[in-house]
Amino acid sequence: MVEELLEGEEASFFALSDGTHVIPLAGAQDHKRVGDGDVGPNTGGMGAYSPAPVLPPALEQVAMDKFIRPTVAAFAAKGMPYMGVLYLGLMITRDGPKLVEYNCRFGDPECQVLMPRLESDLLELLLAARDGTLDKADVRWRDDAALTVVMASKGYPGAYEKGQVITGLDKATALPGITVFHAGTAASDGNITAVGGRVLNVTAIGATIAEAQSLAYEAVDMIHWKDAFCRRDIGWRALKR
Ligand code: GLY
Repeated sequence: MVEELLEGEEASFFALSDGTHVIPLAGAQDHKRVGDGDVGPNTGGMGAYSPAPVLPPALEQVAMDKFIRPTVAAFAAKGMPYMGVLYLGLMITRDGPKLVEYNCRFGDPECQVLMPRLESDLLELLLAARDGTLDKADVRWRDDAALTVVMASKGYPGAYEKGQVITGLDKATALPGITVFHAGTAASDGNITAVGGRVLNVTAIGATIAEAQSLAYEAVDMIHWKDAFCRRDIGWRALKR
């Protein structure tokens, strides 16, 4: 049954609840399709960036007031206070944000762009969510933008070969502002090998999304394995905007 056709751009928004108090975290946007220009099969996500210009502070406020706060209040009213991360999958339509789905976790690869921007200690925030003290939490974000490019193995999201040796990781991670998160890798005989579909998240932080994008691809180009591929346009919607 089709309930409603929602047209617009998808974005993700994250908040943290201690059962009573709820604080906004940040927004991000990922790229679900495997090919440049958002074509081809859906994947778990080929790259992401934060902040998401499609979700400015005024729309984050709408998301808090319309979705997050009522949800947390409803759980509390049922005697089942929700403590932890709330992840809204939103469609940003001409009529504002519409809720597509809820998750009780950080997104992948959205988490990889939220964490480099978070200045506060994540553990302190999660403990405050457990202890009911989020109203006193100190949440600070860097003004910088973060962008991650997923490096995958040829064939993904279908079948792919496993066990190819990855080179260039040391050089790439030595670049200031670069963090490479491992997703589908293994250590074998002193080498790092590709064993998953989505293998690495090459993440850059920069003053702007354009700067983070350029740095991320500089690092990507230093990393090699036989069947490696990635999208070359992560961030295009933000840059076009
Ligand atoms: N990037 C989408 C998800 O984590 O569900």
